[in-house]
Amino acid sequence: MKIAFFDSGIGGLSVLHYAMQVLPQEQFLFYADEDHVPYGVKTREQVLSYVDEAFDFMIGQDVKAVVVACNTATSVAAAEMRRRYDLPIIGMEPAAKKALDIDGEHRVLVVATPITVAGNKMKVLLDHFDKDHLVDKLPLPQLVTFAERQEFDSPAVETYLRDQLAPYDLSKYSALVLGCTHFNYFKGVLRRLMPETMHFVDGNEGTVRELTRQLRERGKLENLPQTVTCYYSGRRVTDPQEIARLDRYMKQLDIVEKIR
Ligand code: DGL
Repeated sequence: MKIAFFDSGIGGLSVLHYAMQVLPQEQFLFYADEDHVPYGVKTREQVLSYVDEAFDFMIGQDVKAVVVACNTATSVAAAEMRRRYDLPIIGMEPAAKKALDIDGEHRVLVVATPITVAGNKMKVLLDHFDKDHLVDKLPLPQLVTFAERQEFDSPAVETYLRDQLAPYDLSKYSALVLGCTHFNYFKGVLRRLMPETMHFVDGNEGTVRELTRQLRERGKLENLPQTVTCYYSGRRVTDPQEIARLDRYMKQLDIVEKIR
């Protein structure tokens, strides 16, 4: 049986890219909701209905687990999907705890979508772990649009980031939390704009560790040749141009993965 990775768009590929290295004998289904991306600037009701539709499709493909490789969809809909379906559903939330654990002294900047930043899940997370109020939150919705058009390091991306980061004294921060899976593609330009001491923190490792733990516990890890089957909003991706598009994302992930 396959493991599904779901995102509003191609951000989820950054989590899948990591999972493919950790789980080389699993078969994956990747679902990008290209008809509805971006989620982060829509209403919570809209996002819930999109996730609902995506789950209907993925469950119909007889998958053994779903990774919601999207912080926004997790914030809105993971709890509801867990109530509805009896299979492991692994969500993602900004890795603020991991970032605070770096030194517990300097500030932490969480960048994510507007929905994630404003959501109750984020509030609960910070009430719990950010007792000293060291975390600042910054929505960067335009990065999702840049990522979808494969604009990873243009002058427009750099100007956007410089403008958004201008109000922050970055020397006071020890970590930047990439709280949206679309943001991993920008680690190159972000590295240039950040002080050398800034750590980048994402949720990929923790998510894949939890996925592995849950599958192992259920005796559901497999020993198969690795495959990835991709869907855009329920339509199988077979067009060579689209496959080439997805390959370009994987190549960019090969590059940014090495950036710390
Ligand atoms: N990739 C998504 C996340 O991790 C959301 C991007 C969007 O659709 O706005 O939050």
